[in-house]
Amino acid sequence: MLGGKRILLIIGGGIAAYKALDLIRRLRERGASVTPVLTRAAEEFVTPLSVAALAGNKLYRDLFDLTDEAEMGHIELSRSADLIVVAPATADLMAKMAHGFAGDLASTLLLATDTPVLVAPAMNVRMWDHPASVRNRALLAEDGIRFVGPNDGTMACGEFGPGRMSEPLEIVAAVEAALADGPLKGRRILVTSGPTHEPIDPVRYIANRSSGAQGTAIAAALSGLGAEVIFVTGPADVPPPDGVTVIKVDTARQMLEAVQNALPADAAIFAAAVADWRVASASDQKMKKTAGALPVLEFAENPDILATVSQMTEGRPPLVVGFAAETTDVVAHATAKRARKGCDWIVANDVSPATGIMGGNENAVILISDDGPEEWPRMTKDQVARRLANRLVEALTA
Ligand code: CTP
Repeated sequence: MLGGKRILLIIGGGIAAYKALDLIRRLRERGASVTPVLTRAAEEFVTPLSVAALAGNKLYRDLFDLTDEAEMGHIELSRSADLIVVAPATADLMAKMAHGFAGDLASTLLLATDTPVLVAPAMNVRMWDHPASVRNRALLAEDGIRFVGPNDGTMACGEFGPGRMSEPLEIVAAVEAALADGPLKGRRILVTSGPTHEPIDPVRYIANRSSGAQGTAIAAALSGLGAEVIFVTGPADVPPPDGVTVIKVDTARQMLEAVQNALPADAAIFAAAVADWRVASASDQKMKKTAGALPVLEFAENPDILATVSQMTEGRPPLVVGFAAETTDVVAHATAKRARKGCDWIVANDVSPATGIMGGNENAVILISDDGPEEWPRMTKDQVARRLANRLVEALTA
């Protein structure tokens, strides 16, 4: 619920602006008040009249509207909200934000504010993937800007891929998470999840088995306690939770890079099942089957992301948590792993096929810390996530 919360909604100029109309309704239904700001380009997609009518509030349209300046200056406007939401956030608007441009009302508000900002990007897939957009996103994440989406899907331009703005209810969930007054409010926590895929050629890969369910549940639990969660995920079976910043990767090396770009953080939880090896010289072309000749794959070792972050001499998150999926001597192997990698806690579990944990809804874990091993009863992955999240609260707020 968003009773009494004040949202400044900046609507950028993209076709997804039509969804902003529904977003206004959904936010108001939950008790939020919405002050809309339209960029000039947005007015090409939605009319000021419909936006103002749905918001039931004054609409702000241009920096040099002197009446507005007399009523409420842009500085005050930018700071009078609990949260600024930019939806749709176009490539242009995100570039302006990343580089501190202030040529119109929307970008000026975003530069003048000290209020948390949530952006819902929407753009063509090529624009999303362009190195300039990738750089801008990294800069914005560094500045503490929160993201929701975009989703994969067919776009108005007919292309398919990431770039479609999140649905209004997904944005509402992210707004609720951003405004959640939980014990982890103001904490930034990194979570890795899912497997990594290491290509053999364009159609084949090697991977570990991982549904991503446990990592996803942990991210959701932390977000529910008010943390800002950066969720770096490989190609998992379960969709990422709402209300967190999702960074999708395929390979271990991409995961390491995404993790390093997402730091600093107050805590980092490495729940991903990272492939230890990659194929040293993955083929650019599909390898053909030739009679009587079997391919020989040469492997190279992937970076150990958990060990790399645990052993950082500068900027190491104060709490680093690893996982240890074992099939024998769980406590002994996991204790040795904790020491070898240098993390603070290890969440160990027995993933032998007979346990049914791999791919199932339940987990039976042992938390290993300085205090030694602590066995938790078998419970659902959501319960494990909530219990772990509460332990983080104790550790981070002690
Ligand atoms: N991990 C990682 N990067 C890797 C391998 C593992 O970040 N390249 C992290 C996992 O996310 C997990 C922990 O390290 O938190 C342990 O992973 P696991 O696969 O059990 O450990 P390994 O180092 O691969 O040990 P082994 O395969 O010998 O059991």
